[in-house]
Amino acid sequence: MAKLTADALRTMYLEFFASKGHAIISGASVIPENDPTVLFTTAGMHPLVPYLLGEPHPAGRRLTDVQKCVRTGDIDAVGDDAHLTFFEMLGNWSLGDYFKQEAIAWSFEFLTTKLGLRPEDLYVTVFRGEEGIPRDDEAIACWKAQGIPESHIFPKGREDNWWGPAGVTGPCGPDTEMFLDTGKPACGPDCAPGCHCGKYMEIWNDVFMQYNKTAAGDYEPLRQHNVDTGMGVERTICMINGYGTVYESELFLPLLERIRALAAADLPEAKRTRAERIIADHMRTATIILGDPKGGVKPGNVGANYVLRRLIRRAVRYGMDLGLPAGFTPGLAEIVIAIYKGFYPELEEKRETILSELAAEETRFAKTLTQGRHEFEKVAAVLAQHGQTQISGKTAFKLYDTYGFPLEITQELAAERGLTVDAEGFAKAEAKHREASKQGEGVFKGGLADHSEQTTRLHTATHLLHKALKVVLGDHVNQKGSNITVERLRFDFSHPEKMTKEQLERVEDLVNEQIARALPVTCETMPIEAAKAAGATALFTAKYGEQVKVYTIGDFSKEVCGGPHAGNTSELVAFKILKEESSSAGVRRIKAIIGEPALEKRRAAGK
Ligand code: ALA
Repeated sequence: MAKLTADALRTMYLEFFASKGHAIISGASVIPENDPTVLFTTAGMHPLVPYLLGEPHPAGRRLTDVQKCVRTGDIDAVGDDAHLTFFEMLGNWSLGDYFKQEAIAWSFEFLTTKLGLRPEDLYVTVFRGEEGIPRDDEAIACWKAQGIPESHIFPKGREDNWWGPAGVTGPCGPDTEMFLDTGKPACGPDCAPGCHCGKYMEIWNDVFMQYNKTAAGDYEPLRQHNVDTGMGVERTICMINGYGTVYESELFLPLLERIRALAAADLPEAKRTRAERIIADHMRTATIILGDPKGGVKPGNVGANYVLRRLIRRAVRYGMDLGLPAGFTPGLAEIVIAIYKGFYPELEEKRETILSELAAEETRFAKTLTQGRHEFEKVAAVLAQHGQTQISGKTAFKLYDTYGFPLEITQELAAERGLTVDAEGFAKAEAKHREASKQGEGVFKGGLADHSEQTTRLHTATHLLHKALKVVLGDHVNQKGSNITVERLRFDFSHPEKMTKEQLERVEDLVNEQIARALPVTCETMPIEAAKAAGATALFTAKYGEQVKVYTIGDFSKEVCGGPHAGNTSELVAFKILKEESSSAGVRRIKAIIGEPALEKRRAAGK
């Protein structure tokens, strides 16, 4: 039988749900828009949070899409058969439209008639209930109505059958997960769907979003009952084709083949396989992040930039183990671009940025490693002075963490000098660090989709700034990235040189004029072509025929945007630019504030 490809699966899924009245929408950027609380988009529902909470979506109440997702929480598990840091999620949504009955019936229909799975191989889990929230008898009844026998339905607890919120607050609810029995023997008498031994593989998750978790930790019923589903592309093609691992598909093979062809070192098989997979996974994710249409994430030391740096450097480090030639990352990114450009044309458009950023980061990393080598020599000299022969775990970890020196390299260098390394101490230091960074990630996860009034106003200020820059500098100015926290906005845009003081003043004054004019902010829904014809600035590539929202600020600005926005520019009070600097070649960055603090600063400047 012909293999199911990712291309075929995406098309089949979207067409199936289109036939059930769903609008096919473009997946969002993998870098969350105007959401300072998360680093990357982690699920298909993530960009849809405002609509799950009740805001009307321009494309309607039934949606389907393919969403690029990045999850790096399990980065250390990459290299096994299944963990990936990037994956594509197929999803269909009901925004207060259909509920459990249709969702389950369509899931069953897709699995059996489109993916060709045998009903007798399907198992499902449902929420078994807990204090205050009843067992999901409705979902059980829906599955039975499809012919799934009771013996294949497993009620389970919150750990297994409750999804969300994606952060600390937001939409969530009980879910039902679907599994395929692979036919492998059970690992023991307790083996059941949800067990990780490999007998049951999870295919799909239907979440019934009926609750909103509040900051106080309460579950308040949502005004509308939503359905949110997620099916992983990589995992599904692996399962349907009977592959042993996700790496056997056409999404990975060309990458792995190139890596093997380039590898000069002879490693034991398990180690070699793991290194190859880590490099393939990380290069794929790094390429997707660098090629994202929203842009703005570059290798660096904090937040999303740090995640990107870590992915690239980990790939380079494992590349060294395999004996890949220096400067190998751009070549691998070319392969990723070739694999994905059909579905994500932005990768082709961003080819130059992707390749040059990778090459630059590889060079920087090589320098760091040289510095690490010097640091090692210093450590060795100090030990010799004190007549000691063991490098402490803490020091070895510092070499790893700060200079990117893998423990093995430290051990090898140590051995050459008759020294040893406290590997146990290293593991302890690493565990301690991991705990600390997990807590750090938790901070970012807190309160998904911060649509507070302040960030909403800053978002409107961003539109004013964008237009003012075009007026003052010229039409070549285009948004290259945007990031908003509750304190400030940050806006990256194309412009070849540093802005002069006069230009900055004119931009700032122009924005403040629009605030003083108290312009209304209005929103209309129309097809993307109509939006472009109306002169709206469209930042990202929406598909032909797709319905989009257009935000108009008086007679001043018109942009295609998901919102939300302030109702009137007067709510911004005042606008003050704090800084203008270089972001990368040909891209400038402005940081600005609004409100009373901006007003005070302007007054102090004699305005
Ligand atoms: N949001 C659900 C998930 O990510 C569908 O599994």
